[in-house]
Amino acid sequence: MQWMEEYAVGVDEIDEQHKGIIDLFTVINTAIAQREGWADLFFKLEKLREHARFHFAIEESLMRMHSYPKHAEHAEQHRHFLDKLDQLQMTTLSRQVTMNTIDYLANWYPEHMKTLDRDFVRYLIDHGKVNLTHPPAA
Ligand SMILES: [Fe+2]
Ligand SMILES: [Fe+2]
Repeated sequence: MQWMEEYAVGVDEIDEQHKGIIDLFTVINTAIAQREGWADLFFKLEKLREHARFHFAIEESLMRMHSYPKHAEHAEQHRHFLDKLDQLQMTTLSRQVTMNTIDYLANWYPEHMKTLDRDFVRYLIDHGKVNLTHPPAA
């Protein structure tokens, strides 16, 4: 999985966190392709969870601080991601993890960045809460 400019929301801190998450997807895909042992794979998924939780907490704090009107539905999507990741980790323990199981999350994430995250960052920018550090792709 590779970072693409169309994923950029235009604020460096957030884009850097998104890139870190995309990198972890790559690491996990490789681990599955190379049929790594379940404990190693579980550990890598746990890293993805840590990064995602940290990143979601930042986004949700910004939403609360600035009274973003779609806060609840956005946070609900974050919970959905973490729930799916939970299920995936359990699958790992029964050694049934396949590319298909990770594919769901690997497709979900770019879509989330391009729609909900971009919308939320646009709100912050429009309300003068953050500065655009670079223009997002059209
Ligand atoms: Fe988000
Ligand atoms: Fe995000």
